[in-house]
Amino acid sequence: MTVKIHKHDAIIVGAGGSGLMAALYASREADVAVISKLYPTRSHTGAAQGGIGASLGNDEEDRWEWHAYDTVKGGDYLSDQDAVDILCKDAVEVVIELEHMGLPFDRFPNGRISQRRFGGHTNNETGRPVQRACHAADRTGHMILQTLYQQCIKNEVNFFDEFHVVDLIRVDNTVRGVVAYEIATGDFHIFHGKAVLFATGGWGRCWEVTSNAHSLTGDGAAICLRNGIPLEDMEFFQFHPTGIFKLGILITEGVRGEGGVLINSEGERFMERYAPSIKDLASRDVVSRAIYLETKAGRGINGQNYVHLDVTPETVNHYFKQDGYTDRAISREYIEEKLPDIADFTRTYLGVDPVKEPMPIQPTAHYAMGGIPTTTDGEVVIDAQNTVLPGLFAAGECACVSVHGANRLGTNSLTDLVVFGRRAGRNMAKYCQTAEHLPLPEGAADSIIAEFEAIKANTDGPKHNELRQKMQNVMTEKVGVFRIQELMDEAILDMGKLREQFNSVTIDDKSNQYNTDLLEAWELGCLLELAEVTATSAAARTESRGAHARDDYQKRDDENFLAHTYCFKTENGYRLDYQPVIIDRYQPKERVY
Ligand code: FUM
Repeated sequence: MTVKIHKHDAIIVGAGGSGLMAALYASREADVAVISKLYPTRSHTGAAQGGIGASLGNDEEDRWEWHAYDTVKGGDYLSDQDAVDILCKDAVEVVIELEHMGLPFDRFPNGRISQRRFGGHTNNETGRPVQRACHAADRTGHMILQTLYQQCIKNEVNFFDEFHVVDLIRVDNTVRGVVAYEIATGDFHIFHGKAVLFATGGWGRCWEVTSNAHSLTGDGAAICLRNGIPLEDMEFFQFHPTGIFKLGILITEGVRGEGGVLINSEGERFMERYAPSIKDLASRDVVSRAIYLETKAGRGINGQNYVHLDVTPETVNHYFKQDGYTDRAISREYIEEKLPDIADFTRTYLGVDPVKEPMPIQPTAHYAMGGIPTTTDGEVVIDAQNTVLPGLFAAGECACVSVHGANRLGTNSLTDLVVFGRRAGRNMAKYCQTAEHLPLPEGAADSIIAEFEAIKANTDGPKHNELRQKMQNVMTEKVGVFRIQELMDEAILDMGKLREQFNSVTIDDKSNQYNTDLLEAWELGCLLELAEVTATSAAARTESRGAHARDDYQKRDDENFLAHTYCFKTENGYRLDYQPVIIDRYQPKERVY
């Protein structure tokens, strides 16, 4: 098979917010190729709805230090505090930069960027929710994506759309490019570069109910794992409290930011019991667990595992008064203007009109706090001692820098994408100025081509959809919102068996053109490995922290686990190591909301 070779300085894999921001910055000084399995503006950043966090203080006092404290507290003290400082300081500048690029933010009447309340973001002096989420209606991620894509086109970034990256070319401690599969033709291509950056997003598709698109299969993280790079803090996977019942599609936290409340089958606003101070705007781990406990206690709507999210003006205005917001009131027109997409989603998918009736919601697998370990400049590290692998970078959800710790605050994903995408892009360009194109090894694409051929050649084995369903059931039941040792240990064994079965996975379509059957089978291999790493890392952490909530170890254990997990793939299975968290201003204390 002939493999076409392309040569560029900087190879960026993924065209979401972090990939595009990195490409924009790198392209100011280097020749950049962006390779994406999707058309760039279909990347999952487009699904981020409610806002990007930055302490602009456009309508009330706010400070980056408050944002930093909230992020560390929200992350249950597992965030590296030097990285959090960068996130929260740079956020202000980057949001203004996006505005200057033309991003159509909503405006306050005074003309400044509009900001809304979001979970866990507070005025640190009063403890009350603060308006920190800068937003373009409930399409903030979509607008970021469009804006950055246009800027990249202006900067003559080379785009390879619908090219699926399937391997990294690493020779000892050097990185020389990637191998990609061209979806339209089935041809393999080598992208020969001086540096490579992964910005490939998360892996929510490991679970059954997820807000993640079908494309979120963790390819970049799995490729790194297979190439000797550990994955960090994989046990921390966030369940967003408000996904559409059964479908998992995201209903933005901005709904609660605008005043929406969660109601159980008894008509009770139950978050008053779980988080008396900020109630429905507590951090996501707290709210997701509360919903789970309510439904387990029989207070789900119609006895099922969902509750209501109510943003009807009657309900919201009632609770505004009760909470002492005497100057706040919303109308149906206001909801239509501020939350047009979620109104559209619930009308389309549920036949529920959110301005008139409550929405049925349940927690949905949403976001990976862990991933490919990086420095604050986006360099990938290969061990718990922070040894950098020269020429390899990562940014965005697939990376773990680590700002989100054990639980990410809403709006901080978009902030992370643009702040650390920018830093990684700048640094990558700098790296490319002195680095050379090292020679490609003989047969650089051979092993991955053989892997694809083997999937095509299998004739007697399970279909990928059957295996995927089994994996999702295991992860939902055994490595979900609440966890116990026995079930996680079982999940590890289950994953081992599923991976074995995967070796004989069969597909129906043997053609070369747009063979999504083949690609979905390959993606499942990535998901299975990430699911196993998640279960392995989780089973070893005998404490509860952020999104990792154990019934058998209900307390946080700072003495033994104020540390990041590093999980390595070895010939003898997975090996774990730990790295101390960087603590600076904020000493760990009990989280109270
Ligand atoms: O609720 C949301 O709009 C999601 C935002 C986020 O994950 O940051």
